[in-house]
Amino acid sequence: MSSVVKNATLLFLGRTIVRAQALLGDPAAKLFDMSPSRDPYPAYEAVRARGTLVKSRMGLYLTASHELCLDLLRDPDFGTLPAGALSPVDSDAYVDGRRLVNPVEESFLVRNPPDHTRLRRLVAPWFTPKGLRAQAATVERVVDEYLDDAARKSTFDLVGDFAARVPIQVIADLLGVPGADHQAFARWGSALVNALDGVRDMGEMRALHRGLREFEAFLDDLVEHRRESPGDDIVSALVAHDDLSREDLIATTELLLVAGFETTVNLIGNAVLAVLAHPQVRARLVEDPTYADAVVEETLRLDPPVQYTVRVPFKSTRVAGTWIPKGTPIMLMLAAANRDPAVFADPHRFDPGRADGREHLAFSSGIHYCLGAGLARMEAAAALRGLFGRFPDLRAAGRVRRRPSRVIRGAARFPVHAGTTKHHTMVENIS
Ligand code: HEM
Repeated sequence: MSSVVKNATLLFLGRTIVRAQALLGDPAAKLFDMSPSRDPYPAYEAVRARGTLVKSRMGLYLTASHELCLDLLRDPDFGTLPAGALSPVDSDAYVDGRRLVNPVEESFLVRNPPDHTRLRRLVAPWFTPKGLRAQAATVERVVDEYLDDAARKSTFDLVGDFAARVPIQVIADLLGVPGADHQAFARWGSALVNALDGVRDMGEMRALHRGLREFEAFLDDLVEHRRESPGDDIVSALVAHDDLSREDLIATTELLLVAGFETTVNLIGNAVLAVLAHPQVRARLVEDPTYADAVVEETLRLDPPVQYTVRVPFKSTRVAGTWIPKGTPIMLMLAAANRDPAVFADPHRFDPGRADGREHLAFSSGIHYCLGAGLARMEAAAALRGLFGRFPDLRAAGRVRRRPSRVIRGAARFPVHAGTTKHHTMVENIS
């Protein structure tokens, strides 16, 4: 069977099986079958009500338990999914006769030690507290600049005109991508992350492969450029490692783009949604910009951009009293763990500054703990301070359109009215 026919058949069968199992009440199929625009949290509670570890007929287990998620994330006998299980891209996809680097499976997000350790170490220095301090001024400047643009209109799209622009500029700067290429960079990142939910049809698969091919060609050029004139950016540093393969270099760069951009934009959007829904939180934020940190942390807990991840045991083992065969995926529902009443008092309430707030798993835990957690917190807090400092009366101006994704939760379009504008800069705000 040709790979096109095989892929089309698998896509069709996959959708049909999920729909049938959802109708039969399977907990995982119900989640995968649910429209991404629906509120997923009641469905997560239904999983919690079934027990600590819940079996699905789709060949996996699920858990909403904070304790179990944390245990498995930190357990060295559990790793990420084996090749082929998670990827939106064929492991052997070719475009124009060249094999595509698989941006999911070949990145260190989904690799196990020792490769994971080797690759993560190469880029970790940019994300240490010292590395972050070097980024702080850029973040403040970028936020201020884009708010200047937004202030010129009375109504703007909080996502497209602001929240998406900040992280793309910051990660592109870190990677050393020239300004003119940012838009294309953002487009490739979005196509890739939307595909994480599964590719719906062959047209989407072909478009994804074409986009990735363009992205790779762009990165090949960037690498050549940095080899000749290195800067103090991440790509220049990676290029300097002679023993790093082209595939590892491309997959690491693609991971940083997608992880650094597609998550933070949703954190900013989800935080603004929460602030607009809680007038007393807004009032305090307008009065005290330092409150932004607590608002960001509570958004990460209550409405995290990454809703779940998956782990598999390297050998057969017992989990929460159930015998789990080697390689069986367990879906760790991070967003549900963040509302586990065993850890969080009144878990569904948005309460910035709550004593138990930092126990959340929005950035995962263990060896894959989000490398960019500090940067994401910094960007989102700067965005909130800037936004509500400038536009204290900011309000929704129409329907919020959700992203078509279940793994990544956030708004795709979020029209807002700026309201009265206060003229002061970010620098004044944080001094
Ligand atoms: C709100 C924003 C963010 C959220 C919610 C988030 C969430 C996560 C989560 C849940 C994981 C681990 C997945 C797993 O355990 O399977 C992860 C890993 C990662 N994140 Fe983030 N992330 C965010 C922002 C960022 C930023 C800004 C960067 C970098 C610029 C970044 C870079 C990474 C990298 C490189 C990994 C892989 C770490 C590893 O496998 O060792 N993330 N992120």
